[in-house]
Amino acid sequence: MTRMDHLALDEAARAILRKNDRGGYTLPTFGLYPYQWNWDSAFAAWGFAQFDIDRAWLELTTLFTGQWPNGMLPHILFHRPDPGYFPGPDVWGTEDKGPIPSSGISQPPVAATFARMIYDKNPDAGREPLAALFPKLVAWHRWFMRWRNADGMIFITHPWEGGRDNAPDWDSAMQAIDPVGVGEYTRRDTAHVDASMRPTKEDYDRYIWLVQRARGLGWDDAAVAQDQPFKVADPLMTFVLLRANRDLAALADALGEDRSELDSWTAELTAGAAALRNDKGVFDGYNLNLGEHTNSVSNASFLCWLGGVDSPQMLAELHRAFDQCAYPVPSQKVGSDWFNAKRYWRGPTWAIVNMLIGLGLIDMGHHAEAEELRARTAALMTQHGFAEYYDPLTGDPAGGDSFTWTAAVWLAWASPSAGVQ
Ligand code: GLC
Repeated sequence: MTRMDHLALDEAARAILRKNDRGGYTLPTFGLYPYQWNWDSAFAAWGFAQFDIDRAWLELTTLFTGQWPNGMLPHILFHRPDPGYFPGPDVWGTEDKGPIPSSGISQPPVAATFARMIYDKNPDAGREPLAALFPKLVAWHRWFMRWRNADGMIFITHPWEGGRDNAPDWDSAMQAIDPVGVGEYTRRDTAHVDASMRPTKEDYDRYIWLVQRARGLGWDDAAVAQDQPFKVADPLMTFVLLRANRDLAALADALGEDRSELDSWTAELTAGAAALRNDKGVFDGYNLNLGEHTNSVSNASFLCWLGGVDSPQMLAELHRAFDQCAYPVPSQKVGSDWFNAKRYWRGPTWAIVNMLIGLGLIDMGHHAEAEELRARTAALMTQHGFAEYYDPLTGDPAGGDSFTWTAAVWLAWASPSAGVQ
């Protein structure tokens, strides 16, 4: 790639962030996702931080305006109505729960990790917004430790909560649900993008059934937890929270706050992460209701390094993914029965997960692998643009385009400029 090529792509990526900017928050992409999404916003903030540090903090500050009094930070904030999206606020029925209309579940807690990186970039600009955010981040992590914690393994209560909507890790729990009485509804996602790249109707019925169940229980944490039909411990959630918690403890030091509670969570999560290793040495989902591992090698499995856990076996799996795919890391291992190169979280490559894997590899000293992954991700975006996700074998772009988090990943990590900024 010539210098001009990558400078032009830097500009195109900044233009996407600006185009999807709605003031204090950024849409994942126009049309398909017309609201503020939780972890998308944290990636967007890290992208903005490469050229506008104040805008980066504003993204996170706006995100936390949606925090519920119990500490939960919703996965979608419905700032302004948009009839082009389903399921909207009328389906979630959370009116009296939070300060603004929102969904009733959370999403991967990457925010503290990016808050730390944004703060480190410019501590002077960050001190004030960080001081305001710090107790909110702690309250959110505390909510995870209270309501989504099984001996240090972080579980999800809805596939959307994990951010990997139709990953095979959820299959056994989804199959156990009989979505009786879910009623008629009209999906909107398949009006924007090809249905073969999206979750199936069987998945969708269960997504909506789970929303209806929790709504019927008034989104009360204790009531929802009782006989939870969908309860799967997730390597992505666990490694992300483990990492975010360490980052939050470092921020506590920077602010002169007490970190002892955070340190106790880090210890608990470290034990939980170890329990997510299956008998093949791979970190995968664990269905808590059945007491069974999924036995899936997904892109989440490679987040061990982000959580500070090394694994020669996962390194060998990573080399295999490099050999099998021109554009790794596939969200499901090539050759597994589940693999589908185009269907969302069952095969395609996601740039955000690649960046998290890459950050972890660097931290754990696996520099050659980190650089290989960065360079292949950069090639993918150079050849195929800033798509929602990509076919790992051909690089074909899939899902929505002009995608905020992919552009952010380019600016902050994949672009040759990222290292020197
Ligand atoms: C999809 C993704 C989820 C993401 C959202 C908005 O639902 O699976 O991770 O946050 O889209 O981009």
